Amino acid sequence: MSLLLDTAPATAEVVQSTIGFGTDNLYTDILIVVLIVVMLALLASALMVNRAMKSIIKITMPELAKEEKLKKAANKGWMKRSWNKIMGIRPISEEKDIVIDHEYDGIRELDNPIPIWFNFLFYGTIFFGLVYLFVYQVSGIGMNQDQEYEHEMVVAEKERQAYLTASASNVDESSVEFQPEMAADGKAIFTANCVACHGGSGEGGIGPNLTDKFWLHGGEIKDIFKTIKYGVPDKGMVPWEQTLSPAQIAQVASYIITLRDTHPANPKAPQGEEVTYGAGQAASGEKAADESKADQAETEKKAE
Ligand code: HEC
Repeated sequence: MSLLLDTAPATAEVVQSTIGFGTDNLYTDILIVVLIVVMLALLASALMVNRAMKSIIKITMPELAKEEKLKKAANKGWMKRSWNKIMGIRPISEEKDIVIDHEYDGIRELDNPIPIWFNFLFYGTIFFGLVYLFVYQVSGIGMNQDQEYEHEMVVAEKERQAYLTASASNVDESSVEFQPEMAADGKAIFTANCVACHGGSGEGGIGPNLTDKFWLHGGEIKDIFKTIKYGVPDKGMVPWEQTLSPAQIAQVASYIITLRDTHPANPKAPQGEEVTYGAGQAASGEKAADESKADQAETEKKAE
């Protein structure tokens, strides 16, 4: 027995210090399960020892066992009485005291008191109602439906913003898309960083013309994003990775897409290859038509 008592606190301590089931550590979880099993085993053996002790007492000291039995019986009687009180039950022997003095066709009525549980419930609801009224209507401690709705909307909006900024800054050259609404912010970035080399309207200068169909490194949004991000250091185009955030690069790239075919004054001569813009990339519907025309020309050639 003393052995059991000695080990119990020690195991309890271990469980306390590793509390928090389902942590990332599998071994901690296994340890907790094992400890629970061990403690259950200890409990079971303690109960068995207890039973064995009792039967020994029954045999060796019968008077003591009898006394215990009586105590138990008395206890039971007390419990039953309080139960009856709560339920408002009167024993049949007391029925004659509460019978009411009238009778209809042999049916008599008992004047049973309202049971305590019922009164408890009844006054309890009144009390609850008062507290509720005070908390939600009078004091303003609790939020009513409208306030709760507003509160949740504010929280959701915050989460939405956080999600949007997170997804915007996760963008890279493989996931970037042309978004017209980003172009305005992109223009500001362009004005602040790029005009010195590419001209105020993208007509070109030190750097190439960004408004024509000719591109050194590709004219789709993904190509442009990549050029801006990594630059072309040997040719004087700065890598902007360190200076601009991915979201900002996506904005300025979207702005450059909007410069397509704007024909600014003093354009720099075309450099690179002519690009027919891909079908998926927003800007012009003509290019799709151009492409199909080219296809047609090709098939005609083949036919000849
Ligand atoms: C110091 C001058 C300089 C600055 C500043 C500069 N660029 Fe450039 N940029 C260049 C040069 C030079 C090239 C041509 C690189 C080559 O020849 O491969 C270039 C090329 C590019 C291209 C590819 C053009 C093509 O034909 O494929 C894009 C897109 C571009 N720049 C965007 C930007 C943006 C956006 C900024 C501002 C964030 C910027 N550049 C700032 C000098 C600059």
